Amino acid sequence: MTVTAEKPASEPSVVKPSWDKGLANTVAAETQMSFIDGAKGILEYVGIDIDSLARNSTFEETVFLLWNLRLPTKAELAAFEQSLRAEYALPDEMYKVISTLPKHATPMHALRTMVSALGTLDPNADDDSLDANRMKALKLVAKTPALIANFDLHRKGKPFAKPDATQNIAGSFLTMLTGQKPTAAMNRALDVCLILHADHGLNASTFAARVTIATLSDMYSAMTTAVGTLKGPLHGGANEEVMVMLNEIGTLDRVDAYIRAKLAKKDLVMGFGHRVYKTTDPRATYLKTFSKQVATDTGNEKLYELSHAIEELMAKEVGPKGIWPNVDFYSATTYHSLGLELDLFTPMFAMSRMSGWSGHCIEQLKDNRLIRPQALYVGPHAVKYVEMAAR
Ligand code: CMC
Repeated sequence: MTVTAEKPASEPSVVKPSWDKGLANTVAAETQMSFIDGAKGILEYVGIDIDSLARNSTFEETVFLLWNLRLPTKAELAAFEQSLRAEYALPDEMYKVISTLPKHATPMHALRTMVSALGTLDPNADDDSLDANRMKALKLVAKTPALIANFDLHRKGKPFAKPDATQNIAGSFLTMLTGQKPTAAMNRALDVCLILHADHGLNASTFAARVTIATLSDMYSAMTTAVGTLKGPLHGGANEEVMVMLNEIGTLDRVDAYIRAKLAKKDLVMGFGHRVYKTTDPRATYLKTFSKQVATDTGNEKLYELSHAIEELMAKEVGPKGIWPNVDFYSATTYHSLGLELDLFTPMFAMSRMSGWSGHCIEQLKDNRLIRPQALYVGPHAVKYVEMAAR
């Protein structure tokens, strides 16, 4: 499905609302950042095919592309990387905030709270000028890795870590998390995952971010909204659910019975299906080959084989209904092979998508209008108020 829509020339003051459950057929924003053709399985960032970006680009270059709508020159990229690195560090007060978070909290609950807290520490949080918002976007993308890694260290009772401004975002993050500089292959593997998750049209969390910023709230509030929305298992939380499923299945001989039982009960098989793609999500196509390589390099071939067997069975059973692997399916295998803990999978998604969310907020403010759909009232009318004593 390619979305084609013309904006109405003028909007009458009273519009007859139309009912569109899940807003599946509603175009609610314009964007220059990413294009999706759900029938052909195409995803482009600013016109560049996602496969080409995953093969050739870096996360930092991709963020520049999304925010500036063009690729940088060598000097521009170096300057942009420098400006990100200059913002890696967290304010000291942030470490105090992290140390007060309950150790049993999940990283996504913690991330939502930490992003919100970051807003309280930025004196320019409510400056909604373009320059201030660009700076906030830069800070959020640069600092999110340190938030996630340091919450993980906190919950494990380990000392906090400072980001490493000599490395790219992926390298600095993995170093904080594990205490060791990652190999070039591990760094690249995470970098590619970050590229693939950076932006994706008006997905649920991006829509939520745009709704928040459209009220003329602030960037931190919009990012907090977005993290909370991404967390759900129908959206970004699916990658963790995929890993739960892989663990539950365990061995190849159990795939058939497990998946068939789920489908018979009409349960969702996580990592499959998409609102827009009715063929394989192009990010999943790339990640499938990529995860095979990462799994082989790290001795996790069995996990890849398990994933592949599920994919083959699902293709036979529900492929004809348009249910195919989405980005979350093979990203689970990739993250696990990288040694990341299950509940850090969705924060990885957030770490990358922070770039798309903030870019969309800036885009929204360029031609803003309050986003306020209507509800179809289906309750009763003319009900008499009954005094408490008579109820
Ligand atoms: N497993 C089994 N059946 C499915 C699945 C699935 N993963 N996804 C959809 N279906 C069925 C669904 O039950 C419905 O069947 P029926 O017509 O018999 O009622 C049919 O396919 C159409 O599905 P739908 O509910 O209309 O699809 P939707 O567009 O509302 O939902 C979705 C899209 C992504 C929420 C859904 O496919 C799903 O819940 N998938 C599993 C969760 C998941 O992997 N989410 C990650 C999405 S991609 C990354 C991201 O954006 O975060």
